Amino acid sequence: RIVYLNGEFLPFDEARVPIMDRGFLFADGIYEVSAILGGRLVDNAAHVARLDRSLGEIGIRNPHDAAEWERLQTELMSRNGVTEGLVYMQVTRGVAERDFAFPPADTAPTVMMFTQAKTVAANPLAEKGARVVTVEDLRWKRRDIKSVALLAQVLAKQQAVEAGVSEAWMVEDGAITEGSSSTAFIIRGRTVVTRPLSTALLPGITRASVLRLAAEADLAIEERLIPVAEALEATEAFYTSASAFVMPVIEIDGRRIGDGVPGPLTRRLRELYLDIAR
Ligand code: PDD
Repeated sequence: RIVYLNGEFLPFDEARVPIMDRGFLFADGIYEVSAILGGRLVDNAAHVARLDRSLGEIGIRNPHDAAEWERLQTELMSRNGVTEGLVYMQVTRGVAERDFAFPPADTAPTVMMFTQAKTVAANPLAEKGARVVTVEDLRWKRRDIKSVALLAQVLAKQQAVEAGVSEAWMVEDGAITEGSSSTAFIIRGRTVVTRPLSTALLPGITRASVLRLAAEADLAIEERLIPVAEALEATEAFYTSASAFVMPVIEIDGRRIGDGVPGPLTRRLRELYLDIAR
């Protein structure tokens, strides 16, 4: 397995990062995940643009322009022979003596990428439908930044695993913010409902594509808060992410959604998304 680290393509075992890396000490870094399907990157321009935006928000210089990022991603995919799966990118503020404040301006960011071969299109869970539980959203106030500081999401996902379900939907002030690693949606009749963008959640790249596809399919769209009580009454529900695409939800907190099978509009949106991803 070949990974990318600071300008080099290296065997996994040879890619080492010093213990003083600020990603390790402070979670002082940004990441992105793009899907690979049929040997091509999915929605990648938007992922690379969000990486640039996240880096800018925390004052880390983006070491590469968009074209260079894509060139590096593509080379890593081909070196690993991955035609379906994920490519992970991470940039931290680099290696420096431990001090909370930023290190000297000439400190080089640490840049790392790896690929994961994985079935993302023919996912059996998408046929069956996923179950989710709601958990308290314990995160900071800048969730629009795709930071590697993911402890609250780690704890949320572990709660889901311990409940025997696939995802945790995080809740703040009685409304769903998003999934631990996905964007939450419900459907009522022919209306697709999701939370409006703000600093309270990540601006999902898949979210944006799915909203566009929903509008083109003549579904109504409401971007507003979703109270948990309303989600439990939804006719359909799903979540989106680079790794899950459009994942039907059949149960929330043990309550069956719709008929307890993936809903027809959700299935249609998944198909439409797969069509543009392919
Ligand atoms: N997670 N919200 C959160 C908190 C996320 O971590 C993610 C993605 C999303 C969906 O965003 P997008 O559609 O751009 O992937 C929403 C990635 C896949 C991860 O952490 O692995």
